[in-house]
Amino acid sequence: MRNISPEEYNRHIKRILISEKEIADAVEKAGLYIDSLYDGSPILLVSILKGSFVFLADLCRSVSVPCEIGFMAAKSYYESTSSSGIVNITMDLKQDISGYNVVIVEDIVDTGRTLKDVVKLLSARNPRSLKVVTLLDKPDRRVVDFEADHSLFVIPDLFVVGYGLDYGELYRGLPYIAEYTEFPDL
Ligand code: IMP
Repeated sequence: MRNISPEEYNRHIKRILISEKEIADAVEKAGLYIDSLYDGSPILLVSILKGSFVFLADLCRSVSVPCEIGFMAAKSYYESTSSSGIVNITMDLKQDISGYNVVIVEDIVDTGRTLKDVVKLLSARNPRSLKVVTLLDKPDRRVVDFEADHSLFVIPDLFVVGYGLDYGELYRGLPYIAEYTEFPDL
């Protein structure tokens, strides 16, 4: 665990990019989008940990159709703001997804590597259908061909934290999405 003072912690937040209200409105719309897709057959929302845990908690409460929740962990970033290029599935889903309408819930699509691998893995398990909903999309950073079915916000090439997203495991609890700066002005 890193030792960081509250002043130092706050100095790295450059500006609020997406407010709590904007997030809440977009999550409500994402819930309506999911409701419109299915006819009553079982839905499984699969959260990709850790970054999507806050988004999942709000999204599952904005969906009206009955749904189950599942968790997977994938890691492609370590203690830096650039991708390592290696995707590790560090925790797999516990349930059998055959026959389920699966909705993968992700925090951000950056290079696209994580979701491309996760979609490939889950598609091979015979779900009834498979969709991807992402909170954020950074299309300028894409290195593999991948598009989510629904993106709540498209953002420029900035490193962002908050609402589940971290820098070095910190900032996940911020209620908004903020631009992170590695080198704050003195
Ligand atoms: P991808 O495989 O490059 O698309 O990376 C996706 C993962 O990288 C996300 O699930 C995040 O955990 C992490 N990531 C990408 N961009 C950011 C960012 O701006 N802030 C925090 N994490 C990020």
